[in-house]
Amino acid sequence: LLSFVLADSALELVPKEIRRSAAVQSDSKRRGADASEILLDRSFHHSAMSKLKDSEKRGRPDLVHVALLSVTGAPLYLDGQVRLFVHTYAGMVLEIAEKTRIPKNYIRFRGLAEQALVGGNTTGLVRAYPMKFGDLMRKASAGRVFGLSVQGKREDASDLAREVVSARSPCIVVGGFPRGHFSIEVAERVDELVRIDERPLEAHVVASRVIYEVERAAKRFND
Ligand SMILES: C[S@@+](CC[C@H](N)C(=O)[O-])C[C@H]1O[C@@H](n2cnc3c(N)ncnc32)[C@H](O)[C@@H]1O
Repeated sequence: LLSFVLADSALELVPKEIRRSAAVQSDSKRRGADASEILLDRSFHHSAMSKLKDSEKRGRPDLVHVALLSVTGAPLYLDGQVRLFVHTYAGMVLEIAEKTRIPKNYIRFRGLAEQALVGGNTTGLVRAYPMKFGDLMRKASAGRVFGLSVQGKREDASDLAREVVSARSPCIVVGGFPRGHFSIEVAERVDELVRIDERPLEAHVVASRVIYEVERAAKRFND
């Protein structure tokens, strides 16, 4: 069983500091929802976001959505071999229950994420709770933690996958953010930092490549 974590993800409710800004207020009015209950989204809240710390890493729930679709569409996940978590910039963890179908429609995904984050939903297919990355690693009983990053050592995804399948309780960590690098909290829990391509790639591309190679490596390992 493999754990897969999207870490420091750019998925959070609009933080207090900017709830009263014009951009957030007009979005809130348009959606008929309180500012505290909508996802921070750069495409609507850009002008207010410059005030936020680490602004360039935040407000991209669309990236998280696409990355989740990549993972949950993969045969390995469909076979129930992946425990999937989203760890967020703001220190929440969303646990995606086995075989959950993430809505392909973004508006529906947004509704699901908002519901989980607002309610601190502890039941259902997507559960959200405050949790530090280190505690998540304990919860997932993570053995060896493989972090994917442009700052890692260059290795082919197939070689990485071979190490993953021969590790006990492996955990793969991909950044769920548009720019920048892992937070210290995440970086210090990573055992191996790997770069699978010369170029910086999108999280969903990295996720699907690594999972595909793990499927192949697991097949060879079991034969
Ligand atoms: C859009 S990137 C974040 C930006 C950052 N410049 C980077 O590439 O690490 C999202 C995530 O994809 C993964 N990633 C992107 N390019 C990668 C590469 N060449 N090798 C390994 N992981 C990569 C990392 O986990 C990263 O946090």
